[in-house]
Amino acid sequence: MPRTYLLCPPEYFAVEYVINPWMDATSTVDTGLAVKQWGLLRDALVELGHRVHVLPARAGLPDMVYAANGAFSVDGTVYGARFKYPQRLPEAGAHREFYLDEAARGAGWRYVEATQTNEGEGDFAYIPGPGLVLAGYGYRTEPAAHAEAQEALARPVVSLRLVDPRFYHLDTALAVLDDHRITYYPGAFSAASQSVLRRLFPDALLATEADALAFGLNLVSDGHNVLLSGEAVGFADRLARAGYRPRPVELTELKKGGGSVKCCVAELRD
Ligand code: ARG
Repeated sequence: MPRTYLLCPPEYFAVEYVINPWMDATSTVDTGLAVKQWGLLRDALVELGHRVHVLPARAGLPDMVYAANGAFSVDGTVYGARFKYPQRLPEAGAHREFYLDEAARGAGWRYVEATQTNEGEGDFAYIPGPGLVLAGYGYRTEPAAHAEAQEALARPVVSLRLVDPRFYHLDTALAVLDDHRITYYPGAFSAASQSVLRRLFPDALLATEADALAFGLNLVSDGHNVLLSGEAVGFADRLARAGYRPRPVELTELKKGGGSVKCCVAELRD
C-alpha cells in the first residue's frame, strides 16, 4: 500500500543552537552534503512507490528539515504542533499552511490547532491495527498534549515517559514496523512505561542501546520496507531476520542536529 509523506529539504540546515545532547554548536555542517543525502532519502521513498510532498525550506529555521515534528495526522485529522523551544516555534505555522493549502485544493484535511506543547510525530506514533496512538513525554511534548490529541483524533493515546535525554523524542526510541508490530529500546523509558509496552506489545522487536545510539529506531517503515540509518548495521540484520526489508540511508550530516530518517519524514494519514 503506497503511503504519503511530507519532507522538507535541508537547504538552511545548520547547528546554530543546542536543544538536544546530539547538537554541538561548534561542529561544522556540510549543508551541500546534507541536501545530497536528503535527496537520496526522498528518492528512496519515491522508488518504493510512495507519494512525497515537499515543504519549501525557510531561511532562519535550520531544524525545519525534521519535518516529522510539524504535526501528527490520523484519518484526515491533523493535530498541529506547538514547539517547546522558541527557535523552532514558527515551523508549526509552515506545516499548518501546507495542510490548509492542500485542503483548499480539495484534500480532506481537518486541522486542529494545539494549545499544548507537542512536537508532532517526534512524540506521537500511530499503530493502524489497534488504532492506537503511543505518545512520549519528558523532554518536549507535555502530557496535557496527549489528552488534547486524544480529543482531537478520537483515538486512545497511551502516554509513555522518556527518561534518557539522548532519546528526547519518542521517535528516537520507538518505531512502528507494520499494522501491529513495534520496535523499541526499553532503556529509554521509565520502568512503568516499559511494563505498559510489554503488556501491550508482547511480540515487539526489542532494540539495544547501540541500535538506538546508531539512530536505528528513527526509522520509516511502510509495513515491509524499512528505511533506517546506515549506521544501524546490526539492527538492520535483525529486521531482515524478522521478515522486513531494510534499506540503509546515510544521513550523517543531519545526525549533527540530533535526527535521522524518521525525523525527516512526516507521514500524512488522510
Ligand atoms: N534539532 C532538532 C530538535 O532538537 C532535531 C529534531 C529531530 N526530530 C525528531 N523527530 N526526532 O528539535
